[in-house]
Amino acid sequence: MAKTLLVTGGAGFIGSCFVLQRVLGGDTVINLDKLTYSGNLENLKSIQANKNHIFVHGDIGDEKLIKELLEKYRPDAVVNFAAESHVDRSIHDPDVFVKTNVLGTEVLLRVVKDWWKDLQQEKKEAFRFHHISTDEVFGTLSLEDPAFTEDTPFAPNSPYSASKASSDHFVRAFHETYGLPTLITNCSNNYGPRQFPEKLIPLMTLNALAGKNLPVYGTGENIRDWLHVEDHCEAIHLVLTKGRVGQTYNIGGKSERTNLFIVNKICELLDEIKPLGAGKSYKDQIVHVTDRLGHDFRYAINCSKIEKELGWSPKHTFEEGIKETIEWYLNNPEWVKNIQSGEYRKWIELNYAGRQ
Ligand code: NAD
Ligand code: DAU
Repeated sequence: MAKTLLVTGGAGFIGSCFVLQRVLGGDTVINLDKLTYSGNLENLKSIQANKNHIFVHGDIGDEKLIKELLEKYRPDAVVNFAAESHVDRSIHDPDVFVKTNVLGTEVLLRVVKDWWKDLQQEKKEAFRFHHISTDEVFGTLSLEDPAFTEDTPFAPNSPYSASKASSDHFVRAFHETYGLPTLITNCSNNYGPRQFPEKLIPLMTLNALAGKNLPVYGTGENIRDWLHVEDHCEAIHLVLTKGRVGQTYNIGGKSERTNLFIVNKICELLDEIKPLGAGKSYKDQIVHVTDRLGHDFRYAINCSKIEKELGWSPKHTFEEGIKETIEWYLNNPEWVKNIQSGEYRKWIELNYAGRQ
């Protein structure tokens, strides 16, 4: 049955993919986004004229606005994607991570809880607050460690992951204390179209095409578990509609790769699709630079709970998904040009100029 969803952070990379899927799937989406540097209305261009998509410019920490939206639209669920999402930025400036990820989530939870508690019984029971989180809350793994399960203790190592762990705890507490029907999903690294080019895959792709250095932090042996964003969003919808209240579900791609593998793969694909000629390879642009502070070595997700309980599994193989993603960046030069604004150039200078 079609639902009305209040989605926060729906102009960002993952949120916009979810909004596109849900609006095309027949749901009505109230999309609340602050449009920070990573929020981009161009991500939603294809549903601009769709009456089932209502965009609202605002902050999850704005109590008055949240209350108004709940009263006006009476959503069946709130899905919270809104966050500061980049680890390197959290190392430079943790404050805004606490403000949005911790305090913002708490305000959203509190205002939603106050509205939800007076709902008529049937609507109250059916309501869901779904919080989108990350595998980074579990800390780091060695090569021999088993993958993270839902029971792995939290051990966040960056200001970003500490703020996400804190928000997860608040969501859990609102379920335990007030009975708010919550769900949490902890997902591994996403890739795909429309990702802001501060993150590994789009940064390396666009740097390669621009003839710039490909800055691999440290040895490049760090491992991430990659999942296509569309598979992540389908998993979120499954948990939202069929997941057990109060539970958390891990979501992962079963696709562990070292950073060096990823960067080499991007270069090989570009060598095929857009050859440099004269026997040159994009790999010549790879440089090793000063490591990220507190750099987590390995993330890996055990997603057997969502597979067994809800029958989910990823549809994209990494090999197909990465090729499609590189092609998307090549085929969308306008999106790329618009996003590489003054703010983006400032960030690149701040994060990379001091690295040897
Ligand atoms: P993103 O940075 O691309 O998007 C974040 C969005 O939130 C932007 O549109 C931004 O404008 C909005 N936003 C930020 N602060 C806000 C505020 N105070 N009020 C309202 N909107 C605000 O991030 P993403 O990669 O799409 O990540 C979305 C969520 O998924 C985050 O919660 C992140 O922690 C989580 N996550 C990301 C990944 C990943 O690999 N990217 C993996 C697992 C979980
Ligand atoms: O695991 C899920 C998380 O994945 C999400 O919660 C975060 O929101 C998301 O940003 C992502 O975090 P990572 O730190 O893993 O992603 P990032 O793309 O920043 O980096 C991936 C790996 O690549 C990491 O080991 C650092 C390395 N890296 C990154 C950049 C930007 C480089 O070597 N060079 C770079 O320039």
